Amino acid sequence: MVYVRKDAGTLTAAERRRFVKALLEVKRRGEYDEFVRMHLAYYSSDGERGLRTAHMAPSFLPWHRQFLLDLEDALRRVDPVVTLPYWDWTRDRATTSAPWTADLLGGNGRRSDQQVMTGPFAYGEGNWTIRVGVTEGEFLTRDLGRRRDPIALPTANDLEQALKDPVYDVRPWDSTVTRGFRNGLEGWSAGRGSASWRNHNRVHRWVGGAMLGAASVNDPAFWLHHAFVDLQWYRWQRRHGGARYLPAAPPGRGDEQHGRVVARHEKLPPWDVTPDQLEDVGGIYRYA
Ligand code: CU
Ligand code: CU
Repeated sequence: MVYVRKDAGTLTAAERRRFVKALLEVKRRGEYDEFVRMHLAYYSSDGERGLRTAHMAPSFLPWHRQFLLDLEDALRRVDPVVTLPYWDWTRDRATTSAPWTADLLGGNGRRSDQQVMTGPFAYGEGNWTIRVGVTEGEFLTRDLGRRRDPIALPTANDLEQALKDPVYDVRPWDSTVTRGFRNGLEGWSAGRGSASWRNHNRVHRWVGGAMLGAASVNDPAFWLHHAFVDLQWYRWQRRHGGARYLPAAPPGRGDEQHGRVVARHEKLPPWDVTPDQLEDVGGIYRYA
């Protein structure tokens, strides 16, 4: 049965309660922290040697798609009706709107130390102790909108700039490319300061706190953000007549990206799955 991922802003009270409950149970079982560890392990960048899979590479989209499916599996082992909601940050743009309500993700961090004080993931509730990738405290932190140096969430028009590009990605398949849907959406660009963060990256910046680094999975907002990013891949495919993942074939020997990116039919570590197999997930879930 194909299940549905819904807009977080449209969930019923019961849906919010069950999603939160399942997430807390996955955390209690110790499975959640494994997701944080895995994201840390695959957080490599352009400057590093070896294969890049999760970020700054064409497989940014399929890697996170499979990552979300794994978390969703864990949630559905707890409660089979639960699915991942998505946060449409082009529409829900206030620090008090969905998904930042006390019955879903909880609100902003307090000013002094950015500690999230409300909602089910507040440290004081006792159910969300951060153990992996801890830099300061064991508590979840956020600085929605960056109070000391405010930035805005990406707009529908910002997203449109990425969606209108008919080419999935271009060589050298990294964070420096100035064309291609993938990096338009992932959001790396040259330039300085806040203007250089676009779309996906900019949202991580806007949430701040735990969402800034490689351990961003510690904030459940990660999943709702990435579900919306995942939805954009589907929209882009539809708009461009089923345009495909690139590169179609691995960069050859002599190419500086040889062995550094995953081509369409190559395995996407750590899974036994290829980008090609993840391009159409219509048999698993759809977005409402
Ligand atoms: Cu990531
Ligand atoms: Cu991300």
